[in-house]
Amino acid sequence: MTVKEIPLFFQWATQSDSTPYWYGELQGDEIPTYTEFLKDWKSHYFDGSAPEKGRCFVILVDNKAIGQVNYNEIDRRDNSVELDIIIADDRHKNKGFGTDALQTMSKYLFLVMNIQKCWIDVIQKNPRATRAYQKAGFKITRTFVDMGIECLRLELTFLDLQLPLL
Ligand SMILES: CC(C)(COP(=O)(O)OP(=O)(O)OC[C@H]1O[C@@H](n2cnc3c(N)ncnc32)[C@H](O)[C@@H]1OP(=O)(O)O)[C@@H](O)C(=O)NCCC(=O)NCCS
Repeated sequence: MTVKEIPLFFQWATQSDSTPYWYGELQGDEIPTYTEFLKDWKSHYFDGSAPEKGRCFVILVDNKAIGQVNYNEIDRRDNSVELDIIIADDRHKNKGFGTDALQTMSKYLFLVMNIQKCWIDVIQKNPRATRAYQKAGFKITRTFVDMGIECLRLELTFLDLQLPLL
């Protein structure tokens, strides 16, 4: 994703079919303004200036941008990293694109960025996302409550990917 695409990303995150799964009531927070959004989504996500701090990638289908997948700041103590994903429009969901993007992102992180574990937190009220992560190979490692909201953590390790090859 490039700096020019930040307004599009903002629209996906705050004004699309998928907004409730990123911000607002279900998440226990507010939908951010553009200025607030930019405080979280700093320039390195879009210009590649700090690969250790995170990077956003567009999900393309037939050369059309339908969403984004990203990793956040890498924890080099255990080479782990959190992912986020959004496919904006309902018409593009349930077609396997999210699973494909998660697998592609994870493989890139394992093979290029020397990551050992990718993880993602999801609210329990988002079974589609949970299913997509599981299809991509992620496993539920714990359940927890954050600000009164029931959540799941899912993880995929490099070893999980290699096991079928052993
Ligand atoms: C989560 C997301 C990235 C998944 O991408 P996707 O392309 O829709 O997912 P896939 O098509 O790869 O897989 C979805 C699976 O969930 C299943 N599913 C859909 N609705 C479901 C529901 N209510 N309960 C259980 N499973 C459901 C689909 O049937 C499919 O599984 P199947 O292939 O076994 O039939 C996408 O839906 C999205 O952007 N959602 C909104 C934003 C979001 O939730 N982001 C994650 C926040 S943690």
